[in-house]
Amino acid sequence: MDCIQALKTRRSVRAYTGEPVPREVLADLVDCGRLAATARNLQPWEFVVVTARGTLRGIAAATDFGSFIAQAAACIVVLCRDGKYYLEDGCNASQNILVAAHALGLGGCWVAGDKKPYADAVRRMVGAPEGYRLVSLLAIGRAAEKPENEKRPLADVLHWEKF
Ligand SMILES: Cc1cc2nc3c(=O)[nH]c(=O)nc-3n(C[C@H](O)[C@H](O)[C@H](O)COP(=O)(O)O)c2cc1C
Repeated sequence: MDCIQALKTRRSVRAYTGEPVPREVLADLVDCGRLAATARNLQPWEFVVVTARGTLRGIAAATDFGSFIAQAAACIVVLCRDGKYYLEDGCNASQNILVAAHALGLGGCWVAGDKKPYADAVRRMVGAPEGYRLVSLLAIGRAAEKPENEKRPLADVLHWEKF
């Protein structure tokens, strides 16, 4: 799948077959994340790849809208050192990872991290030190559904020269 097709066809997947995803594929996803653009090239991120079922269940239970993490093959926990642009940087990496997962034939879904009351608890669950902010929880697995979310048409959102 080429990059444009991957960007245009990616959708959030919240149901997984339970099939494991090889470690090298998960590492490749993180590789795609760590190459994203960052403000001042600070690369403030760390990525914790969780595959242990007990920890996946614990993370899922901590969230309000992420129960499907418990069935995912993995959860990539995106953390960034606190700073002016930590959120933009971490979001950039998260999107790279989700698009890469889709391009590799996997399903994924972003589960909110930043601003959530459980952010600090999840940070501690994965052993990240204080001073790191939980940006996102990325459920990854073989898709057991093919979601078709409606998108606003290009003509509605594209403005040439002025709003
Ligand atoms: C910042 C952010 C937080 C999100 N949090 C959740 C979440 O907690 N649970 C969930 O099921 N989906 C979550 N999503 C996924 C969105 O619901 C999803 O991207 C949106 O409905 C559009 O669908 P699409 O990803 O298929 O295009 C989140 C997405 C973003 C960007």
